[in-house]
Amino acid sequence: MDILAIANQKGGVGKTTTAVNLASALAHRRKKVLLIDLDAQGNATTASGLDKRELEYSIADVLLDDLPIHEAIVKTPNGFDIVGANNELSGSDLHLSQKPENHAILSKAMQQLADMPAKNGRATKPYDFIVIDCAPSLSLLTINAMCATSGVIIPMQCEYFALEGLADLSQTIERLKSLNPKLHIRGVLRTMFDPRNTLANDVSMELIEHFGPILFNTIIPRNIRLAEAPAHGIPALDYEMNSKGSQAYIRLANEIIKQSRQFQLA
Ligand SMILES: Nc1ncnc2c1ncn2[C@@H]1O[C@H](COP(=O)(O)OP(=O)(O)O)[C@@H](O)[C@H]1O
Ligand SMILES: [Mg+2]
Repeated sequence: MDILAIANQKGGVGKTTTAVNLASALAHRRKKVLLIDLDAQGNATTASGLDKRELEYSIADVLLDDLPIHEAIVKTPNGFDIVGANNELSGSDLHLSQKPENHAILSKAMQQLADMPAKNGRATKPYDFIVIDCAPSLSLLTINAMCATSGVIIPMQCEYFALEGLADLSQTIERLKSLNPKLHIRGVLRTMFDPRNTLANDVSMELIEHFGPILFNTIIPRNIRLAEAPAHGIPALDYEMNSKGSQAYIRLANEIIKQSRQFQLA
């Protein structure tokens, strides 16, 4: 299973939009996908068509009350499964901090998934991809994601302070490698890109210079369909497949599938 964490300690950079539309685009490529919402705001849950207040179980039950993760998995109408989140996850850091091995709870849940008994005597892997939507912080929740993942995808807007934020996040990732030796940056993703904006182009050039090898070729444009789709509870691909935003996420999914084959993860 290729476990991808979508993280950036900054809010509003396109993490949730990327998590939902990447999950959707991978599902369109016939991959088995589980989306995990790791943000108490539950935006990924809502954008996937679920009512976050009506969840029987959420990721909070898995992390705080040791619920086996497969009991919290729900099918979405959009071709992928989800473990949802809601405000039961707020204040979780305090609860988590009192647990032993509190950085590794999500990674143990991922192990439970990998160890699920084979169906009809045939060993099948339950998911090709697991996509984790992180909250905008470097909380214990995000550290759990970093410890569970095989690679971090960092969405960022091409603006001046973004580069500073990226340096901080890279440092955190380096430090957490002692807890998860597989941890690395899978790719930096330019989001909400407006090619007419001179500063965005300058920052993009700087990114190419400093982060070239880990920068995704795909650039996600600023596109109104990507902002509208969540209000309808459907990913952009099912809302308007031909929009520039949907097409960009399909290209991103293709890039990630290719990487995944190189790393032999999915
Ligand atoms: N490429 C895009 N084009 C237009 N709007 C976008 C795009 N990506 C995200 N948005 C909008 O920007 C806001 C923040 O995006 P979101 O994915 O929720 O960020 P985060 O999860 O990092 O806080 C949301 O209202 C979302 O709909
Ligand atoms: Mg979000």
